[in-house]
Amino acid sequence: MIDLLRKRRSIRKFLPKKVTREHTDIIIEAALRAPSSRGINPWEFILVDDPEILGKLSKSKQHGAEFLKNAPLAIVVCADSTKSDVWVEDCSIAAINYPANSSFAGAW
Ligand SMILES: Cc1cc2nc3c(=O)[nH]c(=O)nc-3n(C[C@H](O)[C@H](O)[C@H](O)COP(=O)(O)O)c2cc1C
Repeated sequence: MIDLLRKRRSIRKFLPKKVTREHTDIIIEAALRAPSSRGINPWEFILVDDPEILGKLSKSKQHGAEFLKNAPLAIVVCADSTKSDVWVEDCSIAAINYPANSSFAGAW
C-alpha cells in the first residue's frame, strides 16, 4: 500500500492505447467496493470512451479538464443527492479508488 501511495500522481498525458475490458472491470469493482455512509451507495458510474463525448467533457468546466480530450477513458461519477446527505464524501471516496486500482492494473 505504501508503495502505491509513493507512486501516486496526477496524470494528464496518455498513450493512445485503449483501456482493456479486464482493466475497466477492475477499476469499476474497486469503486463499487468503496465504503459509503449507511451503505447507501448513492452513485452511478458511467464509462466514456467515445472521443466525441470525451471532447465535450474536456470543455465541461472552465479550467482543469482539457486533458480529457486525449484520454482513452473517463469515468463520470453521478451522485443522487436525494439518497444521502453525504454524497460528496461517498462519491469522493469511490472516485479515489479508481487511480489506486488503475495503478495496480498497470493501466498507467
Ligand atoms: C478536490 C480536487 C480537485 C482537483 N481538480 C483538478 C482539476 O480540475 N484538474 C486537474 O487537472 N487536476 C485536478 N486535481 C488534481 C490536483 O491538481 C493534484 O492532485 C495536485 O496538483 C497534486 O499533484 P499530484 O496529484 O500529482 O500529487 C484535483 C485534486 C483534488 C483533490
